[in-house]
Amino acid sequence: MAVRQVAVLGATGSIGGSTLDVIARHPDRFRASILAANRDSAGLAALCARFRPDLAIVADPAMEADLARRLAAAGVRCEVASGADAVTAAASGPLCDAVVAAIVGAAGLDSTLAAARAGKRLLLANKESIVMAGALLLEALREGGGDLIPIDSEHNAIFQCLPGGRPDLGRAGVRRIILTASGGPFRGRTRAELGKITPGEACAHPKWSMGRKISVDSATLMNKGLEVIEAHHLFAAPVDAIEVVVHPQSLVHSLVDYVDGSVLAQLGNPDMRTAIACALAWPERIEAGVAPLDLAAHARLDFETPDTDTFRCLALAFAALREGGDATAILNAANEVAVDAFLAGTLPFLGIAEIVERVLAELPAQPVVDVQTLVARDDEARRAARGVLHRAYC
Ligand SMILES: NC(=O)c1ccc[n+]([C@@H]2O[C@H](COP(=O)([O-])OP(=O)(O)OC[C@H]3O[C@@H](n4cnc5c(N)ncnc54)[C@H](OP(=O)(O)O)[C@@H]3O)[C@@H](O)[C@H]2O)c1
Repeated sequence: MAVRQVAVLGATGSIGGSTLDVIARHPDRFRASILAANRDSAGLAALCARFRPDLAIVADPAMEADLARRLAAAGVRCEVASGADAVTAAASGPLCDAVVAAIVGAAGLDSTLAAARAGKRLLLANKESIVMAGALLLEALREGGGDLIPIDSEHNAIFQCLPGGRPDLGRAGVRRIILTASGGPFRGRTRAELGKITPGEACAHPKWSMGRKISVDSATLMNKGLEVIEAHHLFAAPVDAIEVVVHPQSLVHSLVDYVDGSVLAQLGNPDMRTAIACALAWPERIEAGVAPLDLAAHARLDFETPDTDTFRCLALAFAALREGGDATAILNAANEVAVDAFLAGTLPFLGIAEIVERVLAELPAQPVVDVQTLVARDDEARRAARGVLHRAYC
């Protein structure tokens, strides 16, 4: 069996770390041939010393010299590059067969599209790219002829519950896709109680250990909104065939409801290594280092309807998806600006939904034409979000 060469984009992050953990368990199957990060040259150099890739990249050119110095000091011989273009070129280049798209935010779009166009196996964690450019990403995949296996745990669960992964849902007899949501750290709280939430509280997720941006998205339920949009594109699911249910134990990762009344679910401990191992080895199954699920110890599985009056972001994501065109890209850009401001302490928690709502109202959706216009609209939405932020909160 040939060893699969894997590019881990976002190697220093939470998904990157889980991916490298799975890769390290299977040196006979996988090798981390490319490692990329943004600015964390120390973290990246330490990973290079352990995984010995062919190429290490920092997106921020100002960090390249520091990375090169650290690698030389550690006796690691690998090519070093920097810049967003270098990340994109590596994702489509000859040094990898598979790409783990685990950069956070819209910054992951170009490399994700490049990997799809080049026919690599695309392991998609970067949900923002499909939220921004769903139709373009699917077109790039068709052009490249490779496969996309989602590693967002919910979409990976649905992928596992559908015959063939991504069939025509109507013909497969699927009635609904049901995405589960943990409800985040503030489940059950009222709007009044959310007024003084701090970034530290928002990032303390009760079930999953994740990066800061997705942790805030989980707390606002925007993460679930982004996942609804992601499911729409990945599984060609009409918006009315996608439902969200809150499941605080985070053991059922999502479900597929068939017309004959069967509901198939995928369960497991909340550990991203399950979805990553599934996507790396599919259609085979490999050991992921995840403890077996002890149902009796957990004892209960609870489900409830999400509170979209308190957690407005989920309703806003459904509305943007219904509006169509580039509304979901506008939603994503406004959310990224708002989450950054919240993490920087310049925006209260409830202001995140307010900024997204105001920007969506300010910029009516336009048809998605190509990546260039989409990126220009992303810029426009970020400027609009900064404007709202400045007027309302500074
Ligand atoms: N964490 C989870 O459990 C989880 C689950 C499902 C989906 N996801 C999705 O996976 C993605 C990554 O999430 P995460 O939690 O792993 O985030 P994270 O821990 O914050 O890590 C983000 C990674 O992206 C890198 N990065 C940031 N900006 C970049 C840029 N411009 N160019 C290249 N690399 C860049 C960071 O490098 P530096 O370290 O140098 O900043 C870091 O390696 C997100 O889209 C998230 O929604 C995450």
